[in-house]
Amino acid sequence: MKESEYQRRRECVSCSLKKNSLAIIFSARAQIRSNDTEFPYRQDSNFYYLTGFKEDNAILILRRGKRTTESYLFVQKKVKELELWTGKRVGVKAAKNSFKHDNIFISDRFEEKFLSFMKEHQYIYYDFTFEDKQVDFIREKTKHLSAHFNIATLIAKERLVKSPAEIKLIKKALEITKEAHHYAKDYASELSKESELQAGIEYIFKKNGAYSDAYTSIVACGNSANTLHYISNDKKLVDGELILIDAGCEYEYYASDITRTIPVNGKFSKAQKELYEMVLDVEKKIISMVRPNILRSSLQEKSEELLCKGLVSLGILKGDVKKLLQKKKHKKYYPHGIGHWMGIDVHDTSPYKDEKAKEIPLMPGMLMTIEPGIYIDKDDKNVPKRYRGIGIRIEDDILVTHEGYENLSKHIAKEISEIEGRNS
Ligand code: GLY
Ligand code: MN
Ligand code: MN
Repeated sequence: MKESEYQRRRECVSCSLKKNSLAIIFSARAQIRSNDTEFPYRQDSNFYYLTGFKEDNAILILRRGKRTTESYLFVQKKVKELELWTGKRVGVKAAKNSFKHDNIFISDRFEEKFLSFMKEHQYIYYDFTFEDKQVDFIREKTKHLSAHFNIATLIAKERLVKSPAEIKLIKKALEITKEAHHYAKDYASELSKESELQAGIEYIFKKNGAYSDAYTSIVACGNSANTLHYISNDKKLVDGELILIDAGCEYEYYASDITRTIPVNGKFSKAQKELYEMVLDVEKKIISMVRPNILRSSLQEKSEELLCKGLVSLGILKGDVKKLLQKKKHKKYYPHGIGHWMGIDVHDTSPYKDEKAKEIPLMPGMLMTIEPGIYIDKDDKNVPKRYRGIGIRIEDDILVTHEGYENLSKHIAKEISEIEGRNS
């Protein structure tokens, strides 16, 4: 991503501040895994969106005066002894060459600069939800100001519509994720455990330059697929069962989010095929509805109607579709939403409603998943035996365009003939 894109984003956010405002955005803190070991560091999504800066202990200040806007970056200072343990730091001098701010200081100077800037401003913006002693410091020092606003809300709005450069990164993430899902369908029959398959998928992510998974991969064989957030991935791959794989890599801070459901032995049984075709048909129909101005709630409603009809046609639900929908009987088998915004976060923090609590319609440049699913527990005696213990979800990443939509993950096999064929 070019520095000019980060500059443009800072400018957009700065211009949406009230005149005479100061906005503070913090980098993520390192997270402890256990005792004195840390999780791999990942920058805070909002901070990254505005700076492209990947180090800890950094702060961004945006100022909006009467006529001008300014941007200040604070970065941790270079300390040789510490760099020996945790790696090189960018430092102020190099940061000044690569990052275009009105000025760049070491983080130690934040409090001093903040206090001096504050004298000239009337309003303050920061992320109230951030728990940190520096946030406590800001809260304390700005008690007297007339108004406090949450900066995260403004940034979330900016993140709603993606730029061409962002779409390019998500396409790259999906290229890698495609390879991983194709590996899964081609090699699952040779593996014995869910965790082994997960490792193979994540190996492909890393081998191709993805920093990590965009979220913890779900590799759920058979009835495990009926636990929606199954991430233990610790069971055997059983011949004759399906595996629901919800896995996507993160590439240069951008997520992909893909679910495919594949047979362990490479061939769907008749009952699996019937359920799979039904979910796939609904998924394709909902994707084809995506276009500017449509509401996400309309897609949700239609997906519930179509899945309910499908459940009746397979004898899983019995009765009149309208009445079943009214009584929400389908919710037992389709309990989640049709999709969500995605971007730097797999569940992007962008709003679904505007300030007046009115739903925001889809617009060109927005990106959402479409992911209908049906989950039938192995012990559900109300369902024909042949369908019990099957969970199916199919998920693609859909960009809203002026003409309608572009399915960014259309190259990832999902037709039964494609899944049963070989790609690698
Ligand atoms: N992978 C998370 C989701 O599909 O929402
Ligand atoms: Mn999703
Ligand atoms: Mn997913």
